[in-house]
Amino acid sequence: MKITIALLPGDGIGPEVVAQAVKVVDAVAKKFGHEISYQEALVGAAAIDVHGDPYPEETHRICQAADAVLFGAIGDPKYDNNPKAKVRPEEGLLRMRKSLGLFANVRPTFTFPSLIHKSPLKLERVEGTDFVFFRELTSGIYFGEPRGRNEQGTKAFDTNVYTKEEIARLARMGFEAAQKRRKHLTCVDKANVLATSRLWRETVQELAPEYPDVEVAYEFVDAVAMRLIQWPKAYDVLITENLFGDILTDEASVISGSMGLMPSASLGAEVKLFEPIHGSYPQAAGKNIANPLATVLSAAMLLEYAFGAMEEAEAIKAVVNKSLEAGVVTEDIADQGQAHSTSAVGDWLAANL
Ligand code: IPM
Ligand code: MN
Repeated sequence: MKITIALLPGDGIGPEVVAQAVKVVDAVAKKFGHEISYQEALVGAAAIDVHGDPYPEETHRICQAADAVLFGAIGDPKYDNNPKAKVRPEEGLLRMRKSLGLFANVRPTFTFPSLIHKSPLKLERVEGTDFVFFRELTSGIYFGEPRGRNEQGTKAFDTNVYTKEEIARLARMGFEAAQKRRKHLTCVDKANVLATSRLWRETVQELAPEYPDVEVAYEFVDAVAMRLIQWPKAYDVLITENLFGDILTDEASVISGSMGLMPSASLGAEVKLFEPIHGSYPQAAGKNIANPLATVLSAAMLLEYAFGAMEEAEAIKAVVNKSLEAGVVTEDIADQGQAHSTSAVGDWLAANL
């Protein structure tokens, strides 16, 4: 196949980890005879520095013209500590998701046998964990209006809004995924308190009869926060709103041993986007120490979800497993004194694919 991938390295460690994913994708292209070209574009703080805009028009055009987007990370501490900053890098990511129509964020949590001892949880709890979150990505409290402050600046407000349609399209993706997996779906909400959550529950209840082979559970978000680490294997597919999904997927990422391992896919439109679930990790930027595996595995998801290239995706997952077994890993998961650099891991993966 002949494809173009838009590369949006973004901020912090983004450029370093995306560069490793490119090495691996190039090795896949060579092995399987594909022609893959890249179009790089600016996003986040990197784009503010050049254009004063975290998601410039040109970046949007490049994404729309591409066959898929590979994204690194966004965020810069110089904005975090300045609540009055006029533009924020994160706005770029939110606008990108919204304007590309990527309403479903798929975040899997699985374990690697050779890494299971790195999990902070007990072996018997972690072993066999394999669930996937479908996080709603373009609505909810991240986008609801009104938002802002009163004139005196003494009161701030955000609004959580969901339409039935927004819930249903996300829920359908969850049901369909469950049908292909272990046929269990958990709707995560706070229906004992929130009106939006009651609409989530009602909508999912209405859809359920269309998927008679899927068993549906309804659980409150606070209880899921606890059960997720207490007994992670209880879950198969989880669907939830934007903010709950943001929080729970960070929590979930530690189960497998490191946040630097978990990939994600953002779906909903023709052009799909793939990104590691971790952030820009500014403390590590430029040090060649960040774990590139989440981005490499995001590239595997890209090949699988955007092009149905299963064999290619499997080849990437296999070489990642091999690197874990061989101990060719970065400091976050390395044994004492055995850490490899970001670029060394990328080179090893490309050479051993
Ligand atoms: C994520 C991130 C983003 C989010 C931030 C950077 C806006 O935390 O992708 O999970 O909250 O969605
Ligand atoms: Mn997050």
